[in-house]
Amino acid sequence: MDKDGLILECGCGSGRVVNYFHKNDFNIVGMDFSKIAIKNIHKSKSDSKVICADALCLPFIGKSFKYLCCFGVYGSFEHYNQRKQFLSEAYRVLKDDGILILSVASNNILYYTLYGLRQNNFVRSFFGKKKLPHYFGWYQFPKKQIKKELECSNFKMDNYIYAKTNQFFYDLFPFFRDKMTSFDRKDALRLERAGENVYPLSSFGKCVFKLLNSKSPALIATVGVTVSHKANT
Ligand SMILES: C[S@@+](CC[C@H](N)C(=O)[O-])C[C@H]1O[C@@H](n2cnc3c(N)ncnc32)[C@H](O)[C@@H]1O
Repeated sequence: MDKDGLILECGCGSGRVVNYFHKNDFNIVGMDFSKIAIKNIHKSKSDSKVICADALCLPFIGKSFKYLCCFGVYGSFEHYNQRKQFLSEAYRVLKDDGILILSVASNNILYYTLYGLRQNNFVRSFFGKKKLPHYFGWYQFPKKQIKKELECSNFKMDNYIYAKTNQFFYDLFPFFRDKMTSFDRKDALRLERAGENVYPLSSFGKCVFKLLNSKSPALIATVGVTVSHKANT
């Protein structure tokens, strides 16, 4: 990314990404519709530029940004109309040579089937485990679908990168962990949001992870990152 190009991060949450870019002298503006999230960024004495707003109705004039990033948000737009509205807003605020960088949950059948079973309250009660509260829905996108949705909103997908995260291994296969510690998912997610490596693998785990990553990243990735540009300019 070019340091002169203005970046917008939609759905910046607690500032994991926006603070990182800001510290590295990029020109970035963050936004989130959660007042608590924005308040927390300000409270942490970060001088990052962040505002409270809705990604489906961006309070910026057209063609303001060179880059628009959006990590872990697109999949929470449950209805296609919302996703289309977001992409239309992204198209509007991006410059003609602007770049859209979007992360989505990839449709890793193995991971999400096992994960779904573990979260399922019927399965949990069968194994005598405590019921979990109902979580919000989360879309997993096959590569073809996200490419099509981008195309329908006049974006051309240049690249789809499988994110290298060892969370899948660490989470589901305790024998690949560095230490056989018990795993508190809520705690891990909190630390992960703060940018810490909370999923250390053993040497054997690292080897298997590296091998699978080079041979079949789609099998173990839980997240895909798309990089697109405006098609009609
Ligand atoms: C999973 S968190 C991701 C946070 C951050 N992007 C990161 O990667 O650490 C999703 C964030 O998107 C925000 N969000 C969801 N829908 C939004 C919308 N319509 N407008 C603005 N923010 C939204 C939520 O409040 C939440 O902070």
